[in-house]
Amino acid sequence: SFEVVIASSGDCYSVPADKTVHQVLEENGVEIMVSCEQGVCGTCLTGVLEGTPDHRDLYLDDSEHAANDQFTPCCSRARSPRLVLDL
Ligand code: FES
Repeated sequence: SFEVVIASSGDCYSVPADKTVHQVLEENGVEIMVSCEQGVCGTCLTGVLEGTPDHRDLYLDDSEHAANDQFTPCCSRARSPRLVLDL
């Protein structure tokens, strides 16, 4: 598991292996727009202020993935123990 932190509130949530970031945020009342939920459409694109995403989408290109300043919480995860999200 890894943690996601909501930058605006400081709230921190643990994301277990069997849930997506989007699911965990939704359970905690943090609404993110989603559509495909498969990493294709880019609807859920969310800024990342700290930490390294584990990109699992097909929406961003290689250089956008390498920048690590945004990710798709419907399917992508984290390589670092913590991601701070620009929410
Ligand atoms: Fe489509 Fe996340 S909802 S990429």
